[in-house]
Amino acid sequence: MSLFKLEKVTKIYPPYFKALIGIDLTIEENDFVLLTGATGAGKTTLLKLLYKAEVPTSGEIYFKSIPYSKMSKKTLKELRKKMGIVFQDHKLFLDLSVYENIKLSLILSNKPPKKLKLLIYEFLERFGLASKAKKRVKELSGGERQKVGIIRAIIRDPQIIIADEPTGNLDPDSIREVVKVFKEFHSKGKTVILATHDPVILKESPGKIITLNRGELVNYVENS
Ligand SMILES: Nc1ncnc2c1ncn2[C@@H]1O[C@H](COP(=O)(O)OP(=O)(O)O)[C@@H](O)[C@H]1O
Ligand SMILES: [Mg+2]
Repeated sequence: MSLFKLEKVTKIYPPYFKALIGIDLTIEENDFVLLTGATGAGKTTLLKLLYKAEVPTSGEIYFKSIPYSKMSKKTLKELRKKMGIVFQDHKLFLDLSVYENIKLSLILSNKPPKKLKLLIYEFLERFGLASKAKKRVKELSGGERQKVGIIRAIIRDPQIIIADEPTGNLDPDSIREVVKVFKEFHSKGKTVILATHDPVILKESPGKIITLNRGELVNYVENS
């Protein structure tokens, strides 16, 4: 049974803009999927359909054979819990600190406060952000915000990572660190789905490269 399956998925933004056209795609558990294509190709739209921030205009999406159109609220909630999502526009709370933003994603964790703090600092250190923990997000650079968004998504150790151009504002060293983290997730049996233009990521990541062009899936290759 596939993890996700898209069947003839078309997404039209009102009144008539075709963002995705007849997409057929299967994503298996433990796949490492790289979604690429020019700006406007439909990458973000495809990811939004996967986490159901948008719904298809026609066609169907399945999560382990459950059609999204008939998915109960409870199942959707469970699905979202399994997902760590890195948004293209970060979606951080600008007036809260770096630490508080990350802590919010652990709100359901039952770790004791001391352990929680250690865990958050471990990730902050890994991404070179420990000295910025108490800064408000609005005081950070674009690249720093991006890293906070990545930490927030991965710190819960989700089964599925969905990341929308997570390295667009990062320097080469940070990109390497991010790729390492995603590869670690993959080697633990998790599923990684990344939208990216980054040539290093496209070259060095295992898995499937899916290319979109103006809403159409035009290429599908398997990296060895
Ligand atoms: N909410 C929306 N309403 C109308 N058009 C949209 C909306 N979101 C995206 N689009 C359009 O759909 C196309 C695909 O967008 P997107 O999925 O963001 O592409 P990508 O992430 O590959 O840059 C773009 O032309 C964009 O302008
Ligand atoms: Mg996008």
